[in-house]
Amino acid sequence: MQKETDEKTIVFAEQIAAEGKYEDVVENLRKAGVLSLCTEKIRNKYGSRFTLDNFVMTDRDFELLAVLGLYDESTLEHSIRTFELAHRFITYPFLGPSGEIIVFGDFLAGAGVSREQFLRGALFHDIGKILIPHAILHNALDDEEVLIKMFPEELTGQNEHEKKALLQTLYAKGIRPIDVVPLKEIFTEEKYAKLLSELEKRGFSETATLKDVIRMHEPEGRRILVSLGYETEGELAGCHHNYGKEAHAHNMSVLGHTIGVADIIRIADITDALRSARWYKRPLSEIDVLFILTEDAGMGKVDPLLSYVWVKDRYAELLKENKNGLISALGKDKEAEARAIEEFIQKKGEFRGALA
Ligand SMILES: [Fe+2]
Ligand SMILES: [Fe+2]
Repeated sequence: MQKETDEKTIVFAEQIAAEGKYEDVVENLRKAGVLSLCTEKIRNKYGSRFTLDNFVMTDRDFELLAVLGLYDESTLEHSIRTFELAHRFITYPFLGPSGEIIVFGDFLAGAGVSREQFLRGALFHDIGKILIPHAILHNALDDEEVLIKMFPEELTGQNEHEKKALLQTLYAKGIRPIDVVPLKEIFTEEKYAKLLSELEKRGFSETATLKDVIRMHEPEGRRILVSLGYETEGELAGCHHNYGKEAHAHNMSVLGHTIGVADIIRIADITDALRSARWYKRPLSEIDVLFILTEDAGMGKVDPLLSYVWVKDRYAELLKENKNGLISALGKDKEAEARAIEEFIQKKGEFRGALA
C-alpha cells in the first residue's frame, strides 16, 4: 500500500518537475509536500556513490539530484557516472609524456578550485537540462534522418553512399543538419504545436533550432548553481561544453601546459556519453570510445594532455584484458582504430607542452 502511494507521489512529482525552471519546480514540489520524500528516495538509492574522500553531499545537493532525476533519470545517472569518472581523473596517478607521474587533483588548488567544488561541478554539469523539453531531450533523430526530412524529394532514390557523401561535405563546412534545421521541420505538426507551448513557457523563440535549445543547458546550469551559492561550480558546469568558447575562469598549469579545469569535466562527460546508450545511439565499445577521443583531441575538442594520458592508460588496460591479441578478440574491423590509437599514443597525443 505504502509502495503504491509512493509511486503515485513520484508520478505526480515528475509532472511538477517537467515545468522547466528549477526554482519553480522546487517551490511547487515543496508546496505539494513531496520534495522530502523524493529527496530521500534519491539519497537512499544513490547516496553510497558519493562516499568519496572529502566530499560531503548536502541536503541541497540531494534536492538538486532529486529534481534532475524526476525530470530525467538517465541524465541523473549520466551525471553520477561523469562525477565518478571526473573523480578518477583527479586522483589517478597518470604517466605523463616523459614518464612523469601526474595527479591532476594536485593542480586544482592552483586554479582556485577545491576538490569539492570540482566534484560538485562535475556532478551538476547537466543540471540545466531540466530546461530542455522532453521532446528534444529524447529526440532520437540523427543527422541523416534530419537531412532526409529537409530534402525529401532530392534525397529519395539516392543511395547510402551518396547520402553519406553529402553529410561529409556538410561536416567539412562545420554544419550538422541537426544543428541548423528549424524545429518545425523535425517534428510532426501535432508534436510541434505541443513543443511550441513548452518552448514559449521556457522563454525560447519560435525560430529556435535544436542546437539553440540544447545549448541553453550550459548557461542555465550555471545560473542555477550560482543562484544556490555555488559560484565556482557554476563556472565549471557553465563551461563543460564551452559552446560560447569563453576563456576558462579556472586554469591549471601542468608540465607547462594550460588546462581549463572544466576540460576535465568535459573529457569525463564525453567518455560517459560515448560509453552509454542514448536516445539516438547505442553504447560504443571501449576501443571506439578511445578512437573518438583521439579524433576529438586532433580537432581540439578535448585537451591533448588529458586525452593522451587517458587513452594511453585505457588502451594499456585493453591490451592487458586481451592477452591473446586485441584484434583477434575485438575483430578485424577494429584494426584500423587500434593502429590510429597506437599512433596517437606514440605521438604523445601531439602534446608538446613538456617537450617543446
Ligand atoms: Fe552537457
Ligand atoms: Fe553531460
